[in-house]
Amino acid sequence: MSASSVSSRSINQVPVSTTIKSICCIGAGYVGGPTMAVIADRCPAVQVTVVDLNADRIAAWNDPDLSQLPVYEPGLDVVVGRARGRNLHFSTAVEEAIAAADLVFISVNTPTKTKGLGAGQASDLKWVEASARTVARAAQGHTIVVEKSTLPVRTAAVIQEILEAAEGRGEQKTFSMLSNPEFLAEGTAIPDLEAPDRVLIGGQDPEAIEALSAIYRQWVPAERILTTNLWSSELSKLTANAFLAQRISSINGIAALCEATGADVREVARAVGADSRIGAKFLQAGPGFGGSCFQKDILNLVYLCRHYGLEEVAAYWEQVVALNSWQQHRIARLVVTKLFGTVTGKRLAVLGFAFKADTNDTRESPAIQICQDLLEEGAQLVIVDPKVSEAQITKDLGQGSLGDVNPGGWQMASSAAEAAAGADAVLLLTEWAEFGALDWDGIAAVMRQPAWLFDARALLDPEIFHSANATIKLWMIGKG
Ligand code: NAD
Ligand code: UDX
Repeated sequence: MSASSVSSRSINQVPVSTTIKSICCIGAGYVGGPTMAVIADRCPAVQVTVVDLNADRIAAWNDPDLSQLPVYEPGLDVVVGRARGRNLHFSTAVEEAIAAADLVFISVNTPTKTKGLGAGQASDLKWVEASARTVARAAQGHTIVVEKSTLPVRTAAVIQEILEAAEGRGEQKTFSMLSNPEFLAEGTAIPDLEAPDRVLIGGQDPEAIEALSAIYRQWVPAERILTTNLWSSELSKLTANAFLAQRISSINGIAALCEATGADVREVARAVGADSRIGAKFLQAGPGFGGSCFQKDILNLVYLCRHYGLEEVAAYWEQVVALNSWQQHRIARLVVTKLFGTVTGKRLAVLGFAFKADTNDTRESPAIQICQDLLEEGAQLVIVDPKVSEAQITKDLGQGSLGDVNPGGWQMASSAAEAAAGADAVLLLTEWAEFGALDWDGIAAVMRQPAWLFDARALLDPEIFHSANATIKLWMIGKG
């Protein structure tokens, strides 16, 4: 939609009370749950209801046993425990919660489209559109509608059009539209929410911006609350993720060059990151970035660039994703090569399946692609992860046994030592702290010789590792 077609009438100009008393969040996922828990915790005077169509997820959020929450995040149980039942509620009564709310966050999933126009790149906005229609139908009085999901630039115009149609029916309802993208990272969601680098609010209605700012000011210093127009806010989120992912592909490319030349990527990263213009963060080489955001958001950026005829810009960003996939295949190929060119029928212990440490999330985890490649080669994988369930791995890899044609298959083990028993190699794919403190002598004793450790996260210190045991050959990302 062109800028001129975005209405600047009532939708952006209705006076609102700057005091929010009731919030509804549509979507009780990795973002909606933790974000609303922190808002409720920090704003005890505001009633916060998180709604979802997924009744199992809501039931898990309401489970009296806080270790059963559907999202694993360090510290989340404590925050939920403080606020739940007081001013934090989880419910499937979507319309009821919207009707009661002064402000509605839309925090639903926006995955890459799998079919139709833009398949493989564009974001699938069907859940966002459905949410906007539900808000248009159920809202009462004046409601501030806030995009919390990560969205293609100009999505607010679509939501506005749906909301305006409801206003136009002459019902007593009006809306203001804001963009407030979420920058939390999984595994550190609670500290990220409690002390954010910045909170970004995009919009055109000063009163709505002030109302949402006032919520965040309960715990975020005012100078960290940035305001922009809607489109800058939407695009800033995609750009931030693209820049972060770009750094990872950059260092992973250099890691491969380090392995070929005798340099050590950790030393290179330290030297490069010491330049204050570059900075030290996000220079950790690994098996490639995973998670639900980076790939999806870059592909979305690529799609948008092509849509606006910016082919060179699209090709530039597309390469960040291409290098990421290459890195995953490269690691699987390298394992096969080191194990004498075949892993058929060989037992390989896989340490870590989550896309990073301290989360139970496996979306786009590099472990999935690496395991799939090795299964195709006929390997017998034994997987250990402190938080990922067998049911989730079955969704990601399929059934444990691949059947008669391919000897490949996988099973779970409850400890690294159990997984390594009789294995030719251990693959360290997620940097869980406990994998950094294993008894490698004990593990070496139960492995088949010659035994390998492939540390795809550079979690171990090679000097300490080698001095502690001589019987496992070590390959480390970015060092060889
Ligand atoms: P998620 O899949 O974990 O949760 C989304 C939830 O929305 C699901 O439980 C789903 O059932 C629910 N839902 C979908 N349509 C609905 C509807 N019409 N009514 C009620 N509920 C509905 O997703 P997530 O990881 O929380 O991500 C949500 C958004 O936040 C995405 O746009 C994502 O890109 C963005 N984001 C994610 C992260 C992250 O770390 N996961 C960080 C920043 C931003
Ligand atoms: C990311 C962004 O960091 C966050 O701001 C945004 O809101 C959502 O997307 P998340 O995907 O949860 O957060 O985790 P992040 O810490 O960014 O890690 C993403 C992936 O990159 C992981 O697979 C991680 O292991 C990998 N990574 C990260 C590296 O390989 N090297 C690094 O130096 C940093």
